[in-house]
Amino acid sequence: MESNDLQRRTNILYTGSELKLPVERPETPPIYHSTANIICDMDDYDFASKGGKYYYCRTANPNRDGVAEAVSFLEKGEASLVCASGMAAISTALLSVIETGDHIVASRSIYGETIELFDNILKKFNIEITYSDFTNIEEVRAALKPNTKLLYTEIIANPLIEVVDIEAVSELAHSAGALVLVDSTFTTPFAIRPLEHGADIVIHSLTKYFGGHSDITAGSITGSEVLIKRIYSDSLLLGGCLDPNSAWLMLRSIRTMEMRVTRQFENAKRLAEALQADPHVRYVNYPSLPEHPQHALAARLMPDGCGAMLSFRVEDDRNKVNAFMHKLNLVKYLGTLGGYRTSIAHPATAFRNDFTPEKLKEMGMEEGLVRISAGTEAFEDILADFQQALTVFKTV
Ligand SMILES: Cc1ncc(COP(=O)(O)O)c(C=O)c1O
Repeated sequence: MESNDLQRRTNILYTGSELKLPVERPETPPIYHSTANIICDMDDYDFASKGGKYYYCRTANPNRDGVAEAVSFLEKGEASLVCASGMAAISTALLSVIETGDHIVASRSIYGETIELFDNILKKFNIEITYSDFTNIEEVRAALKPNTKLLYTEIIANPLIEVVDIEAVSELAHSAGALVLVDSTFTTPFAIRPLEHGADIVIHSLTKYFGGHSDITAGSITGSEVLIKRIYSDSLLLGGCLDPNSAWLMLRSIRTMEMRVTRQFENAKRLAEALQADPHVRYVNYPSLPEHPQHALAARLMPDGCGAMLSFRVEDDRNKVNAFMHKLNLVKYLGTLGGYRTSIAHPATAFRNDFTPEKLKEMGMEEGLVRISAGTEAFEDILADFQQALTVFKTV
């Protein structure tokens, strides 16, 4: 709209804002940046219930809906919500399904900041948490209480790459009338779809494998229509929705996820085997290795690959680990994972501010433990980079 009756500074607020639709069938969807859709009539006051759900961006946005549809498809879930980060997804789901006085049994090997969320925030609302070893189903059973409402776990536990029997956990939870929430960030739907194994809610930090390029922060919650509807209405009040631009980028990344992730799984498996044979490496944690304590369980739950995360142990010498990191040419130390390039992390450093040195040792985070997020590079190049850098350590 442009009018000669308006002053120039008013005109510029309106000129060019009318959509010239349809725009010749774009191959990719447009980005809907608008935080509101215009309501044309007073009767549009109940706009949302009349199907015009995009009247306000926090309520709904077409780009975010596209991501939700793709995540539901991959996870084989009925519905999904897409949040501004993995932590927004976790906190939104928890605050929605848990009430004051409830008890949660959580795996002791989950993401460190999820533990902080439980301990620093949920406990303020008189929510009880018991941490348990989820690789030992009897320990989980013993932790149940009459007010247990939720079992919370990841399937591949960080950084020791332990595998949780999600079927046994789900059976136990349901027999006690509790829900099961799985953070499946490390596994991805290409390794396992937890809803098919009994879980009620699946969460992802989409920041990792779904985004895959270390340039988008996002999260998702997937489950039944009924559960997601309930979480959705609370999510509107909590406000952690993903912005349209990031949602657009995320959907673009999801298109190539299968190609990236299957290559990453393959590289992780081959790296695990090759590092196991390296004279500087004491042992490797990866579920496809026959020596892994839950090898048979992993083969049953994840026949298409056990993810792209592995860890290995070298000499417990902090300075040498630092020298190793400096000697790597391609592989970099990142505070994230799941990207298309191989990266490492040093758990004893990453969790240094959260736990005492004794607690770190008890949790298996020795100075010589290095975590790898396998990327999509040619396997031979990555292996050669690790092999030349590993020479800083004593042979075993
Ligand atoms: C297993 C797991 N869950 C959740 C998160 C939190 O995700 P975000 O950083 O997207 O909030 C992370 C982040 O590293 C993670 O590794």
